[in-house]
This record gives sequence, C-alpha cells and structure tokens, in this order.
Amino acid sequence: MYLKTLYFGLISVLLITSCKQASQDQVLNQDIKVSTNKGLKDWSSLPIGGAVNISKVLKDSKLDSITHTNFNSITATNDMKMYALVEHDSIPDFTRVDSLVAYTRKHDMRLFGHALVWYYHVPEWITNMTNKKGAAWADAYLKKYITTVVTRYKDDVVAWDVVNEAFADKSGEFRGEFWFNTFGKDYIEKAFRYAHDADPDAKLFYNDFGHERHPEKLNGIVAMVNDLVKRDVPIHGIGLQMHLEMDTTEKAIANALKLAASTGLLVHISELDIIFNTRDENAKDKPKITTLTHDMEMVQAEKFKQVVMLYRKHVPKAQQFGITFWDFNDRDTWIKPFYDLKEWPTIFDENLDPKPGYYGFLDGLTTGLENATE
Ligand code: XIL
Repeated sequence: MYLKTLYFGLISVLLITSCKQASQDQVLNQDIKVSTNKGLKDWSSLPIGGAVNISKVLKDSKLDSITHTNFNSITATNDMKMYALVEHDSIPDFTRVDSLVAYTRKHDMRLFGHALVWYYHVPEWITNMTNKKGAAWADAYLKKYITTVVTRYKDDVVAWDVVNEAFADKSGEFRGEFWFNTFGKDYIEKAFRYAHDADPDAKLFYNDFGHERHPEKLNGIVAMVNDLVKRDVPIHGIGLQMHLEMDTTEKAIANALKLAASTGLLVHISELDIIFNTRDENAKDKPKITTLTHDMEMVQAEKFKQVVMLYRKHVPKAQQFGITFWDFNDRDTWIKPFYDLKEWPTIFDENLDPKPGYYGFLDGLTTGLENATE
C-alpha cells in the first residue's frame, strides 16, 4: 500500500515538474517507469548504493522503503568504523552491524564495509595505549582488529574500504595523523595485508575525497595505488567519495575517473552528494546560499546526470564497482551538521520524496553514451 502511494507520488512529482519545465529540461525528458515497485537499481547496469544508519532505517518505514527499493548495495555511514565498534575498549560491539547484515540478507543487497582504518576519531584509548606501549602494540592491535572484524563478516561483506583518507585535504602529501605518525606510510600496506589474510575473497579499496578538485592529490593517490599494485600488495579498488560542489566541472570529474580507471582496478564512486555552498575555508566570506529554488534543483539534476554518464563512459564495465550515495536524503545528510550549512545535497528531499536530482540520475543511467559531452 505504502509503495503504491510512494509511486503515485513519484509520478505526480514527475508530471508536475516536467509540465513546468517542458522542453528545456531534457533531464526529466524520459519515460520513467515508476508504475511498478522499481527503483534506481532496476534501471541500472551497475550497482547503486546507499549509505545508511541502520537504526534510523529500521525505525522509519518510508526510509526503509526507499532504501531497499532503490539500492542493491549498502554502506554503513558510521556503524562499521573503528570509533563505532571499539569506542571504549578492545572488545567490539557488533550489535548494529549485525542488524545491518540481517537487513542486507533480507533484501538481498550487497554489503560494503566502510572503513577499517581512518585517521578521524581514532578511539582515545588506542592513542593512549600506543603512547604507553609504542608502535609494536599499535601494530598488533591493528592486526587483531582488522582480523576480527573482517573474519566475522566475511560471508556478507564483499568489499572493504581498508584505508580511508590517508592523503592531506588538498595535496599529494600523506596526512600527518595518528596512523601515519605511528608507522609512516607503512600502515597502509599493513592494513591491506591484514585484511586480505582475513578474507582473501574480499575486494579491498583505498578511499579518499577531492580527486576532482585537487590534481596533485589525485596524482599522489594514483601513484601510491600503482606502487602498491607493483609490489603485490592486495589492493583491488579505488573509492572516489565525490562530495561534489556545484561548480565542480565536468572535465575535472572526467579526469578523476579516467585516472582512477587507468590503474586497472575497480572504481567506486563511494559517497556521492552535491552541495551548492562551498566547504572551502578559503571561501568563508562568500555569501551563503540559504534557500533552494526550482532552478537550482534542475541544475543539480543535470549534475547528477553528468556524474553517472561520466562514470559509465570513462570506467570500463569490468571496473565498475558502482555508485553509492551518502545518506541520500536532505533530511539525514551529514553535510548540514558537519559543515553547519543549510544544504540540499542529495536525490531525496526532507520528506524523503524524490527530487529532480533523482530523475536526473535515473536519466544518466539510461541515456545513450553517444550523448555524453566530456
Ligand atoms: C561522516 C558521517 O556521515 C558523519 O555522520 C560523521 O560524523 C563523520 O563521518 N568521508 C567519509 C565518511 O569517508 O566516513 C564521512 O562520514 C564523510 C566523509
């Protein structure tokens, strides 16, 4: 019953929107087959993912419905991070991840593990122990942690972000944070080897952001990945988060995808969202955008379309791991609290109804690539 209502809703949004914009809004100009219980995944030849907080999904039937209707791949926004699993001591609390596993089994979805090693919010007890006992303790714990978590979920998690954000925000330098400060860059190789030993079948990714904005960072990441491959470190994919801003050019996105694909590894757009404001601290004085107009939504829809078409064009089929939306609705998006911005970065609005961006993305999944411009 609910699904019916949702899809009648989808049809009316589509009709109203396309009537308003008619011919110039190419992005909505297609036969969106929403009369059945189908979602993005059903019109896609590549996996389409959503990042969720499973406790929220289980409490909210509309969120639940749009999640399993549209996505065939799931990432946990926070629940599989080290700080969520071993916040206070070395014994992981697996309760939330186990409920996520049950959800993906129920709906036959792929489960993507994010993220084994990240500099952000390393639990304080780990940094304290390392200060007391030294790098050998940290290495032994890292191995134990990765082995325990990867082994527990080896039947369900098909792929992991093994290391997240090892590079500095805007350059090709490594980020000088806890893991790097403890081991130098060797922690990256260690983490990949520990994960592979625990589950030789899992696809292992290096994940980061800003490839499309900072060419030196992109080059640094690609060089690191090529070096790992050359030395037979088990790495199988690159994750490009793609937390985009509306002014990110088509050329820049194409360039990031082309270079990532040039490694021959799998390529995952792992955390897609698109903001209107900027998160750049150097642009703090730029006036903030605080209201969303229909025109803005339509331009954003074009951008979502552009991203998926560029991915389809520049990432060879065998390397297409998929496209994952981070949070995917304007109610739950991390952007608003994290950057203290008023924002609308996703494909569903605050009522969890599809935005023009949803249809733009859908259009990008189904439009012939001969229409791609970059
Ligand atoms: C974010 C979550 O969405 C927030 O809830 C949390 O407070 C901080 O982390 N890059 C990543 C993700 O790899 O793990 C981040 O997720 C967003 C940026």
